[in-house]
Amino acid sequence: MDSKVLLQHFEQRFGKSTSVGGKEAACFAAPGRVNLIGEHTDYNGGYVFPGAVEQCLMAWVRPNGGTRVRLYAVDLDAECTFDVNDSQMPESVHFRYVYGVVRELMALGVKVEGFDAVYGGDVPLGAGMSSSAALESCFAFALNDIFEGHIDRMELARAGQRTEHKYVGVKCGIMDQFISMHGRAGSLVRLDCRSGEFEYFPWHPKGYRLVLVNSCVKHELVGSPYNDRRNSCERVARLAGCDTLRDCTREQLEALKPQLSDEDYRRAHFVLGEEERVLAVCDALKRDDYEEVGRQMYQTHGGLSREYEVSCVELDFLVQEAWLCGVTGARLMGGGFGGCTINLVREELYEKFVAAVQQRYRDQFDRECKIIPVVIGDGARRIGLE
Ligand code: GLA
Repeated sequence: MDSKVLLQHFEQRFGKSTSVGGKEAACFAAPGRVNLIGEHTDYNGGYVFPGAVEQCLMAWVRPNGGTRVRLYAVDLDAECTFDVNDSQMPESVHFRYVYGVVRELMALGVKVEGFDAVYGGDVPLGAGMSSSAALESCFAFALNDIFEGHIDRMELARAGQRTEHKYVGVKCGIMDQFISMHGRAGSLVRLDCRSGEFEYFPWHPKGYRLVLVNSCVKHELVGSPYNDRRNSCERVARLAGCDTLRDCTREQLEALKPQLSDEDYRRAHFVLGEEERVLAVCDALKRDDYEEVGRQMYQTHGGLSREYEVSCVELDFLVQEAWLCGVTGARLMGGGFGGCTINLVREELYEKFVAAVQQRYRDQFDRECKIIPVVIGDGARRIGLE
């Protein structure tokens, strides 16, 4: 969907976009993301290496002069109304993402008033590409802009993260909201989640392409064991006397092993390894050594599947097929429990891989997987009629 079609929906619902009390409707966009490596490290104070994608959530937003918020989600054909002063959150989980952002911005001192908004986009839902962070970031950016909050992008990202924690119940890290706010076309970003420092890495892997394969197994972090994983990590960090696992060494973990459940040990063991893999990938990138990047990606998948236990048969199958095809690197991406694999594929293998993996998936599971080529795009922004 483009912003023009979205505007038509807006005008059908809320009237012409000329002006209400002198306010024009404005359009905003915020992207989903990929993550090259560094999974489940964000809430452990570690490194992540994401990039924003071109797929976005877009919203037309116009203040309505009152205190009511009226929302229409085109893709879901669903609507919701609440008052900015309501302390009761909407029943529908989907609309709590917007409600939460409104409340969190108000708590930061932004004078959010009533507004009408129509939104939709092309970040696939439940694919592990952070459609929910795109929604939060789009509204956080839009409301901060329209109501002149002057809040910086990092704080807006944190407001999105708090929305997940407080209104949706997912104790996520900062990666998804961070990259939806800070993405830059053509660059991946390495974020140190402990210090908040980040660095852009131009991503033009000569001779290789990144492609996602969506297993179309719905990935749903709400009510998933995602929070259990986080709890395991926090238990181990506490026992080690550290704020987060980022500060815990391998020696400390081994010394604690007798006191830990097998499960907690394996979770923490994965996280410590994943920290090392992100740094190994950064080194490899400096040498343009994409084969090494790929090896690290496979290692990550093995850990996510066997130690962190956030994979599923379909994702394991997709990674194995990639391996058998000679793909340079593949792993499940994001929180897990469904969604996509991310694949680093040599140009000359690309067509063959894409055809083979689709066929093999169909044969194995009697269902389709979806190929999603990755183009690294920009973060949250105001847009015009595109
Ligand atoms: C989800 C969360 C992120 C991060 C990833 C796993 O996408 O929202 O904060 O923890 O899972 O790396």
